[in-house]
Amino acid sequence: MGFFASVNGQVVPAEEARVSVLDNGFTFGDSAYETIRTYGGRPFEWERHLRRLRASAARLGFEIPVSNEELLKRLDAVLTRAANPESYIRLIVTRGVGDISYHFERVEGPTVVMVVKPHLPYPDWHYAQGIDVALVDVRRNHPRALDPAIKSSNLLNNVLAVREAQSRGAEEALLLNQEGRLAEGASTNVFLVRGGALRTPPLSAGILAGITREVVLELAAGLGLPAREEVLGAEDLRDAEEAFLTSSTREVVPIRRVDGRPVGEGRPGPVTRRVVDAFRAYAPRHCA
Ligand code: PDD
Repeated sequence: MGFFASVNGQVVPAEEARVSVLDNGFTFGDSAYETIRTYGGRPFEWERHLRRLRASAARLGFEIPVSNEELLKRLDAVLTRAANPESYIRLIVTRGVGDISYHFERVEGPTVVMVVKPHLPYPDWHYAQGIDVALVDVRRNHPRALDPAIKSSNLLNNVLAVREAQSRGAEEALLLNQEGRLAEGASTNVFLVRGGALRTPPLSAGILAGITREVVLELAAGLGLPAREEVLGAEDLRDAEEAFLTSSTREVVPIRRVDGRPVGEGRPGPVTRRVVDAFRAYAPRHCA
């Protein structure tokens, strides 16, 4: 059990894995990534994650000349070696090795890295009681500066937001966009519940198209829950009866307080519980 890595297809213990200091991923944060977790040892929604990874790389202007099948073979090799009950997978593709310059034609790549570590579930109380979030001062990157739709390893906007949230005793940061509208969490998407209906900011708010978010929108239809993508503000957060976050690692997690103020009754509500359960039933059945 443990941390293992694949670097361009070579599997090694993670602490022995080597990437050049000249790699653009290191010198420029010039890379795309996906965080994936396993259920029953198999990666969740593999095809959707690879579609988004390739879209991120395309937005950055490089391609990943490795097929989905070959990437899955490489992943299987690391997962087998790691032998974790469940794994957290970080799949990182950098532009490649350059010469610390903006001469992209000199870059040889891409560099394809997979890091696998044991998936440590979040504590049960997060789901039973809900978590505390902070609406932080740091604003989400403007889409015309660094589009949050690109899942890049250039994560300083997110790092600053989480540091602010943690300094206020919260588990996760909620960020507004440059217009002051609700965007997303630092590593999560956000949903509000009111009158039995789900509401979540639209992609045009400048957010990542979260895979868990997409699955929740699909599941809502099956549950008979109305769900709308809608521009939302801090006032909608205050008026919400329930709220929850979604991500590959947290799944669907209720929010109990925002900046110390209870959401609804300050505990997970009935609609959130239905979505949590529906997602948990769905996930193990949608793995590669
Ligand atoms: N984070 N928004 C941001 C900014 C994210 O980084 C993530 C994912 C999400 C949720 O997306 P998904 O449901 O596809 O995981 C939303 C992962 C977990 C991470 O950064 O490790």
